[in-house]
Amino acid sequence: MKNTIPDLKWSLHTKEDIKLSYNMFPVEISRIARKFHNAIPGCKMTPLRSLYNLANMLGVESIWVKDESQRLALNSFKVLGGSFAIYRLIQNKLNLNDDEISYENIISEKSRKFLGEITFASATDGNHGMGVAWAASRLGYRSMIYVHSKTSKSRINAIKSYGAIVKIIEGNYDDAVRQVTIDAKKYNWEIISDTSWKGYEQIPTWIMQGYTTMISETQEQLSSQGIIKPTHVFIQAGVGALAAAVTGYYHSLFAEKAPTCIVVEPEHAACLYHSSILGDGNPHTVNGNLNTIMAGLACGEPSPVAWKVLKETISCFISCPDYIAAKGMRVYATPLAGDPFVVSGESGAVTLGVLGAIMKENGMEELISYLKLDKNSRILLINTEGNTDPIHFRQIIWEGANPVPPEYWTDED
Ligand SMILES: Cc1ncc(COP(=O)(O)O)c(C=O)c1O
Repeated sequence: MKNTIPDLKWSLHTKEDIKLSYNMFPVEISRIARKFHNAIPGCKMTPLRSLYNLANMLGVESIWVKDESQRLALNSFKVLGGSFAIYRLIQNKLNLNDDEISYENIISEKSRKFLGEITFASATDGNHGMGVAWAASRLGYRSMIYVHSKTSKSRINAIKSYGAIVKIIEGNYDDAVRQVTIDAKKYNWEIISDTSWKGYEQIPTWIMQGYTTMISETQEQLSSQGIIKPTHVFIQAGVGALAAAVTGYYHSLFAEKAPTCIVVEPEHAACLYHSSILGDGNPHTVNGNLNTIMAGLACGEPSPVAWKVLKETISCFISCPDYIAAKGMRVYATPLAGDPFVVSGESGAVTLGVLGAIMKENGMEELISYLKLDKNSRILLINTEGNTDPIHFRQIIWEGANPVPPEYWTDED
């Protein structure tokens, strides 16, 4: 298949029987997660924004954006997962059931004394580490966060500002994951990892379950306007935990009537796209420097637990170049008259960039028809981060870094 934008590639994926999604994302779990998140001081529902005029321009019925740049003061959805996993871990250690446990109970002096000192540790490409550091400090515990050598200073400083000790590891995100695993064993730290591996699945599952708060809120916001569900959801992916939570939860709610779910990754870190192309049903790693401006998505190894959910629920995996994410940021930042302004970082904006490319570039007819994208489509996007790297944000929005190559400029209204 030939694309007009040669760097935008896709793999059409046949969904499997839905099995895991029901077990992993039952509605009760999102109720528990939401109750916990609601009890955190300052944690409010994030806005669901409508880009009505852009939807009109792109030829779809609506574009809804769940704006996670507004999640607490943390600028990203990630805190939902890390905090819920820490909550579940402490609940288990205190041996309390769901009716007995509460946020107050966890932060009480009695619980702290019983549990003693705990250090929570994690590898991150930025946002997850910040969420873990934030949650650990709120609950009165220490955190050790491992980052790779290309992590920006502003991300490292943000993590440190929540009291974490930050260790910089040579290599990429996957190397940081390996190192923190070794060190945690040595020093008896509790790893709160968003990715899974053999024998380490419970905490990544809790993290994914924590993310369902976002979709539970979205569904409430949509239903208050008489909308039952979106027809399509575009979800950006690093290790795939977010995408699995979103699509798994939607399939648990609506089974075969769930929205069509599409995963989007950066071209040099497209491990899920690569796994779908190989097509043997297993997750596969992509090696190399994972170079991309989408720092949150720069992961070469899929989370095996997430992959199992994705392969039964995803209709299409897309790999795209950085300039598409940069364009998405600029479109959010300069809305059409009447549409709201959205602050969106590189990883947050890529799905809007991809949607625009699909609907406006040549050579997309087969993809559009397979995904059944048309004037009746109600699209959900998740702005997973705001301005998490202010220097790079300004370089893109103000100074025009990562421009769309002129041959793909639009020349129509
Ligand atoms: C802003 C942002 N969006 C999306 C993701 C993707 O999440 P996952 O690694 O679970 O696929 C991340 C991961 O860190 C992120 O930081």
